[in-house]
Amino acid sequence: MGFIEVKDLKVHFPIRSGFWNRITDWVYAVDGVDMEIEQGKTYGLVGESGSGKSTIGRTIIGLEKATAGHIYFNGEEITNKRLSSIPEFNRSVQMIFQDSLSSFNPKKRIIDIIAEPIRNFDHLSPSEEKKRVIELLEIIGLNEEALYKYPHEFSGGQRQRIGVARSIASNPKLIIADEPVSALDLSVQAQVLNYMKRIQDEFNLSYIFISHDLGVVKHMCDYLHIMYHGRFVEKGTRKDIYTNPQHIYTKRLLSAIPVIDPINRDKHKLERKQTEALYQEKQNAYYDEKGRVFDMTQLTNTHYAALDPKGGAH
Ligand SMILES: Nc1ncnc2c1ncn2[C@@H]1O[C@H](COP(=O)(O)OP(=O)(O)OP(=O)(O)O)[C@@H](O)[C@H]1O
Ligand SMILES: [Mg+2]
Repeated sequence: MGFIEVKDLKVHFPIRSGFWNRITDWVYAVDGVDMEIEQGKTYGLVGESGSGKSTIGRTIIGLEKATAGHIYFNGEEITNKRLSSIPEFNRSVQMIFQDSLSSFNPKKRIIDIIAEPIRNFDHLSPSEEKKRVIELLEIIGLNEEALYKYPHEFSGGQRQRIGVARSIASNPKLIIADEPVSALDLSVQAQVLNYMKRIQDEFNLSYIFISHDLGVVKHMCDYLHIMYHGRFVEKGTRKDIYTNPQHIYTKRLLSAIPVIDPINRDKHKLERKQTEALYQEKQNAYYDEKGRVFDMTQLTNTHYAALDPKGGAH
């Protein structure tokens, strides 16, 4: 049993228009997803832009309201509760954002940014707090000199590492990392991911790792959830998804992983073209008549895919 469970979560946003600003339609940003988070594991949440990945993360952490469904923390329902009323959850779940320059207050110094998540809980003296922040900086490869600087004085990679330090300050159990390396160069991406991996082992952390790129998350994730239009099209272990994908959308995302190796580049280009042609030809069989992703079918102990229950695609 996971320490966090998400059951049939739906998050719908109203679209308002006209003179009276009335609700004229809804965006089904998240439309019925289930997740179970266990200690020490990484869960990838992967899909194209607008598929609802960030909304899942933001709803778990309480930044968006669930329209329906349930979120449980250690078996207790916390759906739509005010975070301040559940301090244990509040410190156990942290988030890292894609763009740290806009998510950090530019007028705050690093010591204040990193210490902010613990100020409400730990009531440390100023010298204890400084000591704690220096320890956290050392974990991510920076030192004391960073304490009184401002976010703009760091490179993108350093800032994302500061985001990692901030997110572990409160000794959390789960970190929701929303595209934490997407804005970085490949070499810097690897460095930040390495820090995240090392910290995970040290603190037995769980991650929900959000990305639009199956290539980036491959080496991080134990489990993957592939998302399309607010629903999961497939979920399973890393092996299930990378070596035995069943849904056409997963196959298409896999074929979109860039290949750096020049020898296989042409072969890969051809494969990508074939997958794309197959997708265009067969995609209707993978969605219902309204274009909605089917409910999940269980294929093995770990592997689920949203296939036509009448067996259309198979
Ligand atoms: N506060 C909001 N009000 C209205 N619509 C919203 C709101 N937040 C998100 N949406 C809509 O919900 C859908 C899912 O958005 P979300 O940000 O979760 O996607 P995403 O998968 O994280 O995309 P990206 O990869 O671009 O970050 C989108 O259509 C988006 O426009
Ligand atoms: Mg997003």
